[in-house]
Amino acid sequence: MKTSAQTRTRYTGPIAEAGVHPHSLVEQGFASDEALAAVLDRYPAELFDINLYDYDDEGQVSLRTGARGKLDGAELLAAIQQGRLWVNLRSVETGWPELWAAAMAEFGKVQAAYPGLRAVRNAGQLILSSPKARVPYHFDPAGVVLFHLRGRKRIFVYPGDEAHLAEIDMEKVVSRQTTEELPYVRAFEADARVIDLEPGQALTWPIYAPHRVENLDRFCVSLSMDFQTWPSRFRNGALFANAVLRSRGGRPRMTDRMATPELAARWAASLALKRAGMLKSRLATFERDFEPEVGVEDGAGALRA
Ligand SMILES: [Fe+2]
Repeated sequence: MKTSAQTRTRYTGPIAEAGVHPHSLVEQGFASDEALAAVLDRYPAELFDINLYDYDDEGQVSLRTGARGKLDGAELLAAIQQGRLWVNLRSVETGWPELWAAAMAEFGKVQAAYPGLRAVRNAGQLILSSPKARVPYHFDPAGVVLFHLRGRKRIFVYPGDEAHLAEIDMEKVVSRQTTEELPYVRAFEADARVIDLEPGQALTWPIYAPHRVENLDRFCVSLSMDFQTWPSRFRNGALFANAVLRSRGGRPRMTDRMATPELAARWAASLALKRAGMLKSRLATFERDFEPEVGVEDGAGALRA
């Protein structure tokens, strides 16, 4: 018998293993074509991420990024439905307050299922993705509840131990020296817990557990809600402080070996380090490769300045 993936996760928080919960966001009408086209029309362009992932035979990923372009909401929706795009609308809490209010009510029910879980900050992104889109292996430096609204997707959740999620890679992500993608090898698949999500289901998993997503041949809509707890905040701060130490030639102790007072002290130090601009994000600017277009390969047309 395989060891449970979840017991090998370094910091699970109160969520010991991946779990599915019901939600009512679909019945409330947030996932219809009309509602989605309307929100795409009005969503601020600076809150869009449009990605196209390519994979080689070993499962290694390369990323192309798109500009928002000039399509109206209905056209952009069609480009996603026909293409191979992954569109992320950030900051749903400000971009679509009605959906956010409903989702926070649902989050309250999920949170109540895990004694001791207490989110201190929530944020959300609405993800519209093409039938064949896949999201590469990564982790979020936060807890996550993925509210699935349309289509079918398969989520692979892996143990968050050093073999699958090295602390040095966590440091790079938390200090924004790299995107959230992690080193990945096919052998990890033997350790994955696989969950298929239907509309009306929400999935959560142990905090920091690495995961990846495959759409199952249908246009998909999900609201990905991330949240911080005090322990995750402390841990992220300690990882950031360790990244700064390491960038100056230090060899910091792993946060796994730190008790709460030490994690809290490192978190406090990280706030000062961030204020002082000790590690500049390397993600601030990057080139765009395409614009969404209907009726072209992958839904990715040429850039039109
Ligand atoms: Fe994620």
